[in-house]
Amino acid sequence: MAKSESAENPAPLVTGKLTGEDVGLERSLRPDRLSDFPGQKKVKDNLEVFIQAAKKRKEALDHCLFYGPPGLGKTTLAYIISKSMGVEMKTTSGPALEKKGDLAAVLTSLKPFSVLFIDEIHRLNQVVEEYLYSAMEDFFLDMVTGEGLAARTMKFKLPRFTLIGATTRAGMLTSPLRDRFGIVARLEFYEPQDLNLILSRSAKILGVDLHPEASMEIARRARGTPRIANRLLKRVSDFATIETAGKIDLPIAKKALSALEVDGRGLDAMDRRILLTMIQKFSGGPVGIDTMAAAVNEERETLEDVYEPFLLQEGFLMKTPRGRCALPLAYEHLGIKPPRSIEAQQTLL
Ligand SMILES: Nc1ncnc2c1ncn2[C@@H]1O[C@H](COP(=O)(O)OP(=O)(O)O)[C@@H](O)[C@H]1O
Ligand SMILES: [Mg+2]
Repeated sequence: MAKSESAENPAPLVTGKLTGEDVGLERSLRPDRLSDFPGQKKVKDNLEVFIQAAKKRKEALDHCLFYGPPGLGKTTLAYIISKSMGVEMKTTSGPALEKKGDLAAVLTSLKPFSVLFIDEIHRLNQVVEEYLYSAMEDFFLDMVTGEGLAARTMKFKLPRFTLIGATTRAGMLTSPLRDRFGIVARLEFYEPQDLNLILSRSAKILGVDLHPEASMEIARRARGTPRIANRLLKRVSDFATIETAGKIDLPIAKKALSALEVDGRGLDAMDRRILLTMIQKFSGGPVGIDTMAAAVNEERETLEDVYEPFLLQEGFLMKTPRGRCALPLAYEHLGIKPPRSIEAQQTLL
């Protein structure tokens, strides 16, 4: 059992991993046009232009790289791009492409202008990654036929295609790979107003009766993340089915959110555990990431990719060269009086 599915944290809301239920839910809620994709205005405006231009010139769209925390819409954008270009999309992932042959099999199956979506592209191994370079740049592959003395390298011509890579870790991409993407976009956490629009649309699709104040409450507490907003909607709707004949009003939304241990700032039980551990066990830090991971019994990668980005952006945490530190907001949020040194730090910030 994965650590994040442990008994203390059943069916986590914040996890980057998808459960079986998520897959069905996401498929039904995934927009297929940019106009149904609220937020990420800068990324969207640029994409709109690039897509129109590529269509006008009858060319494949440039290779795109999307990066940012899980659940912000990287896969969805890839899907929207393929729909807007009117081409098919093939999906694979860094860890699934183990050998050159795996990549060759996918690439040679592409049609002109197809989208090849590689999720978790930072996890491609070096051999496969280097094999990808010529495909991305010049649209050919070196293929070896025969064996031993009879072995020959042939250049295999590929159709023009668009590679879309997604990663939670842009920092882990090598620069030769990163440089081969013409379009690189970082996805940001969403404003509550945008999550509110996403929730209204989801409620319509799911056929649930979501009142505007309840929608805004869920939006404010969804950690800036559409995937979490949709998961919360689903769970809140379960409470409403039992208690209010399906009507999701503000009181039932609040009640359900507190039963789910999502607090007023959208932090969940693990977020609070991270902050509390940092403050109580490590005097507020600095504490190294591996030490923190062991202390809260969570994988390091999950802390770095899933939990930290939001805690950093909201000002609960700070990264320093010596480790992570809790900021005054973390103390305030947990109702703990910060030590003097931290208050002094705050005035310096
Ligand atoms: N801007 C958006 N508008 C509407 N739904 C969104 C948006 N961004 C993400 N979603 C929804 O959130 C879920 C997770 O998005 P996804 O693209 O899988 O995230 P990522 O690939 O970045 O982890 C999907 O169901 C998707 O439909
Ligand atoms: Mg994804």
